[in-house]
Amino acid sequence: MEYKVKDISLSDKGRLKIRWAEQHMPVLREINNIFSRKKVLKGIRIGACLHVTKETAVLVKVFKHAGAEVALAASNPLSTQDEVAAALVEEGIHVFAWRGMSWNDYYDAIARVISFSPNITLDDGADLTGLIHKLYYKESGKEVDLALKIIDEQPDKIVSGIRGGTEETTTGVIRLRALAKEKRLLYPIIAVNDSLTKFLFDNRYGTGQSCLDGIIRVTNILFAGKNVVVAGYGWVGRGIALRARGLGARVIIVETDPIKALEAYYDGFYVTNMYEASKIGDIFITATGDINVIRKEHFVRMKNGAILANAGHFNVEISIDDLEKISQKKEKIRENITEYILHNGRKIYLLAEGRLINLAGAEGHPSEVMDMSFSNQALAVKYLLSRKLSRKVYVLPRNIDNRIALLKLKALGVKIEKLTYEQKKYLSSWEAGT
Ligand code: ADE
Repeated sequence: MEYKVKDISLSDKGRLKIRWAEQHMPVLREINNIFSRKKVLKGIRIGACLHVTKETAVLVKVFKHAGAEVALAASNPLSTQDEVAAALVEEGIHVFAWRGMSWNDYYDAIARVISFSPNITLDDGADLTGLIHKLYYKESGKEVDLALKIIDEQPDKIVSGIRGGTEETTTGVIRLRALAKEKRLLYPIIAVNDSLTKFLFDNRYGTGQSCLDGIIRVTNILFAGKNVVVAGYGWVGRGIALRARGLGARVIIVETDPIKALEAYYDGFYVTNMYEASKIGDIFITATGDINVIRKEHFVRMKNGAILANAGHFNVEISIDDLEKISQKKEKIRENITEYILHNGRKIYLLAEGRLINLAGAEGHPSEVMDMSFSNQALAVKYLLSRKLSRKVYVLPRNIDNRIALLKLKALGVKIEKLTYEQKKYLSSWEAGT
């Protein structure tokens, strides 16, 4: 069996961590029971590029129990939980992941998942799917050159064996929709991110809590009384703003979309642009999915001691290039904290090298929300295998979303109301009026 992890002797610790996650993922447990009884993935090869956490472990174990063979690479160089990676190797998963991978290690691992010739790809951020497409279309790039040294099989042969893929996150879905728009998508993709039982909970409550958890674990700073600037008022930004307010912070929203900015305003937040916010913020959190959201003209206006963290998928939202250029000195002063001393003498603290703070500084989203996200992943794999789909980006049908929500409610012991026959009829008729 092929694998590369930091230390296989960590597996006992990893197994206990996975057990803790399993306890909090009742919907996935139910799906596991069904999938494993029927061996619904017998003979299927799954290639995944996901954050290697205890929750991901629960998901890939479901695939394994259902009869699949799984290869797993990290979807971020800083998000792997090494003890979980070790435990997964002992479960028979081909894992290529460790915390602190270099750029080369990162793409080497993804190339190994591609050379495993998967039938289904699972992605978080579209680096795996992107590389498959770059290889197929013979695009140039450092990661392509690196992958070509590892993969023996011809890319078209690998692609012909792929029946579909899934994408976990907003950023990845945006990349894959761009590929589909150019009519270059090579196989169907399920945008798991776009399921209601994913983004309304994972993006909002998952990131809301885990991002603050990451900042607090790394800095041990008090949120009460702080001016917290949140860039982006999508579902992630909303969750962060909500939870920061709950901790007693004054929250300031920076948003480019007029509708979202208006929503933020009427949700009771102070809304302004980054230029103004940069002068008043104590903590800045980016959650936009775009590049250079905080840059030179903002850094130079910031208060001495300002803290910067990113909650978006890639480390592009805070311009580290600009920060380096305007600094006289930089020093790692604590795990996951780099102190930059600017030419103007002020200090700025960058957390986790601008990588996603919830996974780099803490353990990612809590298991309870990943339960729903990963139930969508599991059901998306089954959906892809049971249908003939075109080379498009799909969203799972509403009945699957409802099924996941109902299972979650059942596990939570929550009863919901049923429509009567008369009420259903009323809602589907047009005649009844004033
Ligand atoms: N993305 C965010 N949180 C995560 C987690 N706990 N596991 C896997 N992927 C994640």
